[in-house]
Formats: sequence, structure tokens, C-alpha cells
Amino acid sequence: MNRVLTLEFVRVTEAAAIKAGRLMGKGDKMGADQMAVDGMHSILKSVPIDGTVVIGEGEMDEAPMLYIGEHVGAGGTPVDIAVDPLEGTNLTAKGQDGSIAVMAIAGQGDLLHAPDMYMDKLCVGPRAKGCIDLNESVTENLRRIAEAMERGIDDLTVVILDRERHQDLMKECRNAGARIKLITDGDVSPAVDIGIEGSGVHVLMGIGGAPEGVLAAAALKCLGGDMQARLVPYTEEERKRCAAMGITDVNKVMTIDDLVKGDDCIFSATAITNTAMMPGIQYFGGGARTHSVVMRYKRGTIRFIDTFHRFRKEARWSIHL
Ligand code: FBP
Repeated sequence: MNRVLTLEFVRVTEAAAIKAGRLMGKGDKMGADQMAVDGMHSILKSVPIDGTVVIGEGEMDEAPMLYIGEHVGAGGTPVDIAVDPLEGTNLTAKGQDGSIAVMAIAGQGDLLHAPDMYMDKLCVGPRAKGCIDLNESVTENLRRIAEAMERGIDDLTVVILDRERHQDLMKECRNAGARIKLITDGDVSPAVDIGIEGSGVHVLMGIGGAPEGVLAAAALKCLGGDMQARLVPYTEEERKRCAAMGITDVNKVMTIDDLVKGDDCIFSATAITNTAMMPGIQYFGGGARTHSVVMRYKRGTIRFIDTFHRFRKEARWSIHL
């Protein structure tokens, strides 16, 4: 993939964030999602790629735009695209921290075509790369992560979605001595944080969306972190979907390279509300300021991009918004 595409993808997530951010705190998660989809779709059209949406807003009959299988782009390099125009719909609707517009791009066939079901995830940063094993217990993983990071388990902070299904996981983390940060929604943004040393969080564990898992894997791959995952089909229909994807053993633990294959991928995210690493979108008369992160696996470059968008050329902007 040509490196100039990185900036093109930032324009895409910025456009989604600018549109969806207008509905922050309005209690309208569907409306905010639609705005993000519109924003993302409108810019994607002009990006010089021959993209196929492999993770998107749903099947063709469920979503008019950014549906799975949709071809996007103005023509060019053939790529797989995973999008979540609004990751954390509730967070935006309630004006809470942690919502982002996000996408990942990789070579054709390189992104796991994860169906819309649950996935058990274990994410760590670069210092704990290679020491995690989803087949081992939570306690054993925490022991190994702590050892690799040269600290005690009680110096680890584990991010977990606050869900009933995670009661046992929380109990085991607490018994092992780890600190826990419970989140109400949006597990992609903390997966990015985990890959960045000094963010204050070290591990992400538990069951969340499978599509979001692929996005997290792309971010962690670029950041040099690690991830293991296992699909969690709850229904017969979901098991059939796994089989249709060629997954015969649903208990198989997938590595980060199973989730995102190949020697190149790009990850771009723009904050809608505040994240640990980036301030949320701010509007001013005639414009908006966005903060994004864009990373490329091939070179390992990580860019934080602070952009002033002037919808009118004469719009007055200030660095002290
Ligand atoms: P949205 O699709 O509403 O943005 O929610 C995203 C999310 O919070 C993910 O970040 C997470 O992986 C998943 O939903 C958790 O699913 P559930 O809310 O069903 O536990």
C-alpha cells in the first residue's frame, strides 16, 4: 500500500467524526451512527483504492452504505477495509468518553471477515508480546504479563466491559490482585491505549464484538502489541456463520496474525468524544478541530494528527479552543 494513503484514511475517519460529533449527548445513537456512515462514505469515494468492505455496517440487505461486500474507492490498489464509523454509539449519544470513528485497511484477503457475533479477546502492549495464551487461565496470563512488564500483578490495570457475563473474569482478576477499569461500551479505543506505553492501562480482557476485535488487532499490530481471540457463537445460526467462513473449530484461538494477516496494514481513528490519548472533536464558528491517530504496520510509524477543518475559508480558528 502506498504510504500516501495514510493521510487519505485520516480524512475518512475525520469526516465521520465531524458529522457524528454534532449529535453528542443528544440521546440519538442511531442518528449519530447514520451521520458517521454518511461522512465516512462520502470521503471514501474519492480515495484512490479498490476497496472491499469486509467489516462494515451489516449485510447488504441491512445497510444501504458500507455494507459487507460493498466496493468503495475511486479505483487503485485492491484492499480489504474494516470500518466502524461510530464505535461506541451509546457513548456518543450520552456524551461520554471513548467513542471514535475507526477503520483498518490491509491487503486483499488479509483481514478476518469476522461475522457480527461475540469474540473473547486478550490484548496487551509490546512489552508483553508473545507471552499471552487464551487457553491458559486469567491468573496465569496476568502472571506472565506482569513478569514480562517487570512489575507485580497489582501494578497491572485490566480493562473489562462492564457486563454480567464478566462477573467471573472480574472476580479472578481481583483475586489475582490486578486493578480493573470497567468500561460501559467501546473496547477498540482502550485496545489502542494498551498498545501505548504510559497510557495507564495494560491488558484488555473479555467478550466484546468480533468486528471490533479485528479493528483492535489492526491497531495492536501497528503498535507492536499482541492479541489472541476466540469467536463466541451463542446460537446455531452463529455457528453456521462460522462454518460458512471456513471456521470448523470455533474454539480455535486466533493469534493477531490470524486476525490481520500480511505485511502491511493501516489503522486510523478519530476521537469523537475524549479518549485517553486524544481530545474529542471541538467545533468553532465555521469549523471543527479533530484529533486522530494513524499508524502503518510496514514502517511502524505512528502519527497523532491535530487538524483544523475550516468549512468556510474565512472561519477564525485558534490553537486555544
Ligand atoms: P456500538 O456498536 O453500539 O458502538 O457498541 C460497540 C461495543 O461497545 C463494542 O466496543 C464492544 O465490543 C461491543 O459493543 C460489546 O457488545 P455488548 O454491548 O453487546 O456487550
